[in-house]
Amino acid sequence: MELKTTQIVVIIQCVWSVLGNTHSHGLPNIVFLFVDDLGYGDLGCYGHPTSSTPHIDQLSRNGLQFTQFYAASPLCSPSRAALLTGRLSPRTGIWPNVFLPESSGGLQHNETTLAEILRVKGYNTSIVGKWHLGFGKNQQYLPMNYGFNSFFGTPFSHDMCPCLKCFYPSDPCFNQCDLYYTGCALFHNDRIIEQPVDLTKLEDKFIQKATDFITTNAVSKTPFFLYYSFQHTHHPQFAGHRYRNSTLRGSFGDSLAEVDDSVGKVVQLLKDVGVEDNTFVFFTSDNGPSLRNKHRGGNAGPLKCGKGTTYEGGQRVPGIAYWPGMIKPGRSMELASTLDLLPTIVKLVNGTLPRVALDGVDIRDVLFNSGKSTRESFFYISPYSTPDYPIYAVRYKQYKAHYYTQGSSNTDFTHDPDCPETHNRTKQVPPLLYDLNQDPSEIYNLNLDPAYTDVLMRIDDIKREFEASLVWAESEIGKPTDTALEPCCAPGCSPFPSCCQCHTSNKLLFLPGL
Ligand SMILES: *[C@@H]1O[C@H](CO)[C@@H](O)[C@H](O)[C@H]1NC(C)=O
Ligand SMILES: *[C@@H]1O[C@H](CO)[C@@H](O)[C@H](O)[C@H]1NC(C)=O
Ligand SMILES: *[C@@H]1O[C@H](CO)[C@@H](O)[C@H](O)[C@H]1NC(C)=O
Ligand SMILES: *[C@@H]1O[C@H](CO)[C@@H](O)[C@H](O)[C@H]1NC(C)=O
Ligand SMILES: *[C@@H]1O[C@H](CO)[C@@H](O)[C@H](O)[C@H]1NC(C)=O
Repeated sequence: MELKTTQIVVIIQCVWSVLGNTHSHGLPNIVFLFVDDLGYGDLGCYGHPTSSTPHIDQLSRNGLQFTQFYAASPLCSPSRAALLTGRLSPRTGIWPNVFLPESSGGLQHNETTLAEILRVKGYNTSIVGKWHLGFGKNQQYLPMNYGFNSFFGTPFSHDMCPCLKCFYPSDPCFNQCDLYYTGCALFHNDRIIEQPVDLTKLEDKFIQKATDFITTNAVSKTPFFLYYSFQHTHHPQFAGHRYRNSTLRGSFGDSLAEVDDSVGKVVQLLKDVGVEDNTFVFFTSDNGPSLRNKHRGGNAGPLKCGKGTTYEGGQRVPGIAYWPGMIKPGRSMELASTLDLLPTIVKLVNGTLPRVALDGVDIRDVLFNSGKSTRESFFYISPYSTPDYPIYAVRYKQYKAHYYTQGSSNTDFTHDPDCPETHNRTKQVPPLLYDLNQDPSEIYNLNLDPAYTDVLMRIDDIKREFEASLVWAESEIGKPTDTALEPCCAPGCSPFPSCCQCHTSNKLLFLPGL
């Protein structure tokens, strides 16, 4: 007899009520809910008028909502490397830009990830969803090599493969994506189980895996780390049929509604299996909104530009911390970043910090004591940053100075001429200066006002000191590419790449002339 997860949950609830809820191990479970390209203004609880995010809004009401929380980079791969290592991307070699299916580089194995640290403490560790830290020869850069006991997901963004069906069989994606790569591959650990993957059923599979993982480990009283890394809400947006045309907001809203549904399910499950009061949940995004697909893109709210830029819209993202009984519901205006999660969690579990330069700080005081953040500064590194143009902007307290500005193809459609790719790298002398407390939209430059001379000098000092300490690792993304490295469930087949299929009911349609 096979039990459904819902039945198992009911059984656990019964057992729980008899035995009482005891945490034999004392170590808190850790759950990251990490969304792709979700902007500061995309959630109901961050002010979006037509998004449907009731579960995330509830998480926010019952948790701590950050208003000045930063992704470590305005782009995917560098941001994810920083989340898992607590280190800015130059240190880990995840620059410039992002990994492609044909990239030969990846996150280096000598980096220490949060998963590795937690596993040493006895945690069961799992990633469900998108990875995007490399693939490489012999799949050497997949998550199982970085402290994850299991991986159920995709190695890249789903626009890095042909994507032809996004909502219904008859409902094509708004963008066919990169037709010259192999089909999007769904991995279970180191094995491709579906290629091309059916995007309309992907989130259902993710939530099922996440449910199994939480349930199994709650039953066995094993502390767990779940890195739930949504494929949503990256373009082209997709969703299961239940969410097609389900929101006023259109295809982006439909994709986001599916995220919201899964967030609701995870939180409810934690409650049902009795670990809610022993689990630290953190919800955030890898970078700001993509603004390249007009009304189908995300939203940065009051912030300037979006993904790919070092303006606020590129890196300031929603951040919600949730832990009933431990984190007091409210709103925090303290400065914090995904970089801070590793050092904070390591302290929380009495783990061992890696003996490397870390860019994060311990924010336990902010989370658990409504205290002040020890973070006073934040360094903005562009997808175009190189050792010659390292730091684009520096935040110090409420001030932000831009030393270089540059637009991005990810923000091509806005009314602001600073955002699109046509805005080439521009050195700002003196640096543009904004007071983000009074001017979060970065409109009113203060750099010529003598009242701010001291602030600019202080920021110069901080920048110089940081640059002197910043050692750039060799670029992993710059390493040679090779199409033979692309994921393929039928290695060596022909004609490549369309022959890489292992799911016959889901054939790739290669359209003539594309
Ligand atoms: C990892 O190895 C590379 C290449 O040998 C080196 O440049 C880098 O500093 C090492 N990183 C760490 C964290 O030890
Ligand atoms: C980790 O969790 C999975 C369930 O997803 C379970 O099958 C596995 O045995 C667990 N591993 C350890 C080391 O606890
Ligand atoms: C859903 O919306 C699309 C446009 O976004 C439209 O073409 C389609 O007919 C709608 N489908 C249904 C079932 O309402
Ligand atoms: C970590 O160590 C502190 C101080 O020794 C102790 O109070 C706390 O319970 C420990 N926490 C865990 C999760 O082991
Ligand atoms: C930006 O740089 C590109 C490449 O160097 C150049 O072709 C283009 O004219 C520049 N654009 C502007 C607006 O200066």
